Order: sequence, then structure tokens, then C-alpha cells
Amino acid sequence: MFEQEMDFEGRLSRPEYTKADEEVEVSLRPHTLDEYIGQDKAKENLSIYIQAAKSRGEPLDHVLLHGPPGLGKTTLACIIAHEMGVNIRPITGPAIEKAGDLAALLTALAPNDVLFIDEIHRLSRSVEEILYPAMEDRNLDLIIGKGPSARSVRIDLPPFTLVGATTRAGQLSSPLRDRFGVLLRLDPYTPEQLADIIQRSAVILGIACDRSGAVELARISRGTPRVANRYLSRVRDFAQVLGNGVVTKQIVREALSRLEVDELGLDGHDRLILETIIKKYAGGPVGLETLAAALGEEAVTLEDVYEPFLMQLGLLARTPRGRCVTPAAYQHLKIPQSGQQNLF
Ligand code: ADE
Repeated sequence: MFEQEMDFEGRLSRPEYTKADEEVEVSLRPHTLDEYIGQDKAKENLSIYIQAAKSRGEPLDHVLLHGPPGLGKTTLACIIAHEMGVNIRPITGPAIEKAGDLAALLTALAPNDVLFIDEIHRLSRSVEEILYPAMEDRNLDLIIGKGPSARSVRIDLPPFTLVGATTRAGQLSSPLRDRFGVLLRLDPYTPEQLADIIQRSAVILGIACDRSGAVELARISRGTPRVANRYLSRVRDFAQVLGNGVVTKQIVREALSRLEVDELGLDGHDRLILETIIKKYAGGPVGLETLAAALGEEAVTLEDVYEPFLMQLGLLARTPRGRCVTPAAYQHLKIPQSGQQNLF
């Protein structure tokens, strides 16, 4: 029972999502750069590239969007297509298994369309290799058949824009990275920007949310619109039943305490990570893989999803010898810092 609750509540603050979350998220997605809040640098540059490409009647150069999960890479890809006035064909890297899959996707595009490949770092090497000439020269070189009767065919492709998204730009091979003309990095949103996003979402969803409620939600939303929007939907229920329907700071605090999210915005799983380092590894340092195994978590999930927020709050540090909690973590968890000390 407890585990089930933890699972559900933990998910609220996680960037990965369920089908229901996805439906709400799609309804909240801005469609134009003007509607899109934050990521000002990426937005300004993109706006110039789009205007220039449109005035030349050409497709936009290939775009690589990189940054942590939940910051709006898919949203931006859709905006690019919308602003260019073309269609978007979304797919994830691992879903393109064979050269033929990629060929089917590319040959079905209309001129200047966007092919959006999410998790592009997970493309197989063989698919990646046929992507190079497609991106560079709009040629697709396919081998048809096997053995002595195998022959190579070249297919000319329509002009298109590849928009790739990844949480792990470092894992992209350099030949692939070099073929993107536009590289845009998305950073976590500031609390002010998140509060603006929450208020925009509240209007669309018909939720009354005052600024104090939006600011309080923004503070614990990990710099991530997806997390903020999910908390907003949940807190709305508390506002309806416990208050007068308006999401205020007080209602947010009440709702979060019932969801076992503390005043810093940590959920049960965040606290478990810190407690594990303290109780099993004397506060650290502990290697990422060891910690991930102790938590039954994938190392990449720990690194990409959980750690950034804990580091941002100054509760966790990555050191060359491994992960360490800081004195602030002991204080926050009300655990006395005694006996063998870690690096701090
Ligand atoms: N909803 C999710 N992300 C958003 C953003 N960056 N701007 C406006 N609304 C959003």
C-alpha cells in the first residue's frame, strides 16, 4: 500500500509521464514561439532562423535540442513545424530499428516537413549511418537483398528538417552532432517563468490560481513545466474540496503536505536517496552505479532525473570519488551528523 502510494506520488514530481498526463500536457502545449514562455535565448535564435528559412523558401536547417527531461523539447519541435507551416512526423530513436524504417519515414515526408526523432542518442549505429547522407545530401543509400545478389539503390529525398532531441548530447556520435546546423540547449526554467507557465495553464484548464499559489507551486517544480503542470492538476482537487476552488499558497502547502512533498519540494524518493547515502554509505562518497543498485534504479535515471534537483538545492554533491550528501542534507532530514564524516 505504502509502496503504491509512493509510486503514484513520486510520479507527480518525475518528468516521465502516464497517458493521462500526456493528454493534459498536449492540451497545454503552446503552438507558437510567442506563446512559449522561457528559454529566451533558444527562442530568439530560432525565430531568426525560421524567418530566414521561410523568406528563402527553404527548409529550416537540422536542429538538435538537448537538455534535461521535461523542459519542452517536443513542444519546441512542434512549434518549429507550426511556425514553418509544415507537418511534423514524430518518432523515437529506438523505434527506428532498420534502415528500411528510416527510409519509409523519410520518403513519406512532404517537401520541407519536419522529422522529429526523440531520444536520438538511442539510434542504432546502422540507422545512424544511413542518416548522414540523408541529412547532408538528401540521399538515401539502401542495400537491397543479401549475399551476391545484394545491390545498392540510391533514393532522392524531398528537402526536410530533422529535429533531434536528446537528454544526453554527450552520447551522440560526433559525425551525427556535426550534421546539425542549429544546436539549442534548454535549461531549467526560473521560478518566475514557471509561475507564468502555471498561470497560463490554469487559464486553459479553467482553474482559478492566484499568483501566490503559482509562485509556491513553481518553487517546488524542479525547474520543469511538466512537473509544474502535473502538480497544478493535483492541487486543483484539494482547492475544490478543502478550499473555495482557488489555488492559493495555503492550499498548495496543504496539498503538498498530504502528498508528502516537503517544504523544499522533496518527495519520498528524494529523501530515500539522501537517507541511503547517509545510512548505508556514511554520507558518501559512493559511486553512482553502487548507489543506483542499492536503490534499484538505473544509473542514468538517477543522474538525469533525480540528482539535478538535489544538487540545485545544495543537498547532494558529485565529487570525483562519488556522490556525497552535504551538511544541509543532514539538517533537512534532521539526522545528526556524527561519527565518520564524509568529505564535507
Ligand atoms: N507549457 C509547457 N511548457 C510551456 C512553455 N515553455 N511555455 C508555455 N506553456 C508551456
